[in-house]
Amino acid sequence: MDTNKPFLGFGLGLRPEHYQAIVDDPPERVDWFEIISENFMVEGGKPLYYLDRIRADYPMVMHGVSMSLGSTDPLDLDYLDQLKALADRIEPAWFSDHLCWTGVDHQNLHDLLPLPYTGDTVRHVAARIRQAQDHIGRPMLIENLSSYITYRQDEMTEWEFLSAVVEEADCGILLDVNNIYVSSFNHGFDPMDYLRGVPADRVWQHHLAGHQNQGNLIIDTHDEPIIDPVWSLYEATAELLGPVSTMIERDANIPPLPELLDELDQARAIAEPHYRNME
Ligand SMILES: [Fe+2]
Repeated sequence: MDTNKPFLGFGLGLRPEHYQAIVDDPPERVDWFEIISENFMVEGGKPLYYLDRIRADYPMVMHGVSMSLGSTDPLDLDYLDQLKALADRIEPAWFSDHLCWTGVDHQNLHDLLPLPYTGDTVRHVAARIRQAQDHIGRPMLIENLSSYITYRQDEMTEWEFLSAVVEEADCGILLDVNNIYVSSFNHGFDPMDYLRGVPADRVWQHHLAGHQNQGNLIIDTHDEPIIDPVWSLYEATAELLGPVSTMIERDANIPPLPELLDELDQARAIAEPHYRNME
């Protein structure tokens, strides 16, 4: 993988609620968009029409939710073919999926489940990432989950596991800042240990999102504005990791576009002074 990480700037997750507004008046405050790959694995129609229109004005990256990298089922080659066709269509800067499993024995649990942090799992997942990366022919990033459980078999911390996987697979990291915050709260670790523990040159993208705090457990819902402790953690990433393409990930309770643009400006205002200090 190229160690000169590309920096796309500040972006948004592309959501159907905003298609028309973006086409009518392409916002200058957005540098790039991330698409959910599965939403565009269709034969034609409106999604692909808007995709091509918006791609003409913006760089894009692709984010998937169903590769099930951690499963013991073989990777779904039909899915990989469809993903490659979409990648060939929009030429994304990279594509990503999660460090998780979503099912086994061809059953989909429709949830992103954490893996046991062991050496065997590192080798298993890394081989599958290499297969996916070779199939698509573009750089792949792996996203950290927010989790609510751990395994008795764990041999290392989550950040040691993530780092070992991406080194062995020679891929990048999509570091979701909110997910680090949620998992640090649920499992009681110091989020700064996480940030210091990952290879900075492999962190190519950030997700920022809001979530619901239910008192003793935080559920990662992506349906609220970003909270202050997550902004603080994001500032720490900017200081430690340097320029990393950053986006707001809102999946439910989607507000009008201007509201997300304001949140994106906040990200820019927090990160950019730290980037300038590094020049
Ligand atoms: Fe995320």
